[in-house]
Amino acid sequence: MTRPRVFITRRIPDEGIAPIEAIADTTVWPDELPPPRAALLEAVAGCDAVLTLLTDRVDDEFLDAAGPQLKVVSNYAVGFDNVDVPACTRRGIPVGNTPGVLTDTTADLAFALILAAARRLPEGDRYVRDGRWKTWGPLLLLGPDVNGATIGIVGFGRIGQAVARRALGFGMTIVYHDVQRAAAAVETAYGAEFLPLEELLARSDFVSLHVNLTDQTRGMIDAEKLGWMKPSAVLVNTSRGPVVDHHALADALRAGPIFGAGLDVTDPEPIPADHPLVGLDNCIVVPHIASASLATRAKMAEMAAANVLAGLRGERLPTPVNPEVHGT
Ligand code: DGY
Repeated sequence: MTRPRVFITRRIPDEGIAPIEAIADTTVWPDELPPPRAALLEAVAGCDAVLTLLTDRVDDEFLDAAGPQLKVVSNYAVGFDNVDVPACTRRGIPVGNTPGVLTDTTADLAFALILAAARRLPEGDRYVRDGRWKTWGPLLLLGPDVNGATIGIVGFGRIGQAVARRALGFGMTIVYHDVQRAAAAVETAYGAEFLPLEELLARSDFVSLHVNLTDQTRGMIDAEKLGWMKPSAVLVNTSRGPVVDHHALADALRAGPIFGAGLDVTDPEPIPADHPLVGLDNCIVVPHIASASLATRAKMAEMAAANVLAGLRGERLPTPVNPEVHGT
């Protein structure tokens, strides 16, 4: 019997590659950088399954290039804004993602950015490395307290609630905004108050973004919304870069009206080194590493492989994005 053909668009932890190699003729894109578009389209041609990353655009052109035998697209991420899911659904192709396993790891990083931006850790580190530390300074590198502050969580799903759990440990007051109000039991568990976005931004000392990237959330935090925030406030984004208008954010950080920002995600990615945000001392930028713990990336790999294997067998994916293709 001929073995199915699978293309994996980058090296992922072995936990994901080994189970696929065991049953399929598998090609892994070997470079550190993603396959250029033409190479990607060439590589997927004739494949039965493709394991994609958030850097790969999966759309009609991709699906045409792959061909009608394609049985599954397994995205190595919880987010799937790189995939045209309706296009896959129209063709009956199931799409999988990796929800759940990266929730706590991502929330840890969001909290690290909150602490680092408030307490100016990168600035302090640079200060020492640059040989500028001469004495203990009563006014040196002051910032807002995290403990006891109010955190506004925008997007109160799995990751937003995991951030809330951490915030409780810091004695923070929790307010949240979402398109859908959480169940009363969830609000009670976190002592969380639902607020309209405008009020959340005006009341919060820290604003942490946890929304999916959709037509509704693209550019959601713009100059007007930044203007609603407190001058002492910190904005943290571990969701998707385009949720925040970066030029408006650079203006807001340069001139007030906000104190600082911590970004795990940018628009574009990678953000150019000469982008105004990268030069600002009160903006921390890290390269989309919120899920980058050894254990989490391994679990994501296992889940992505499980979706590939199920798709190849024609079974329902363990974590499907478009379960309707399975008729459920
Ligand atoms: C995701 O999974 O969507 C993250 O952005 C990367 O792990």
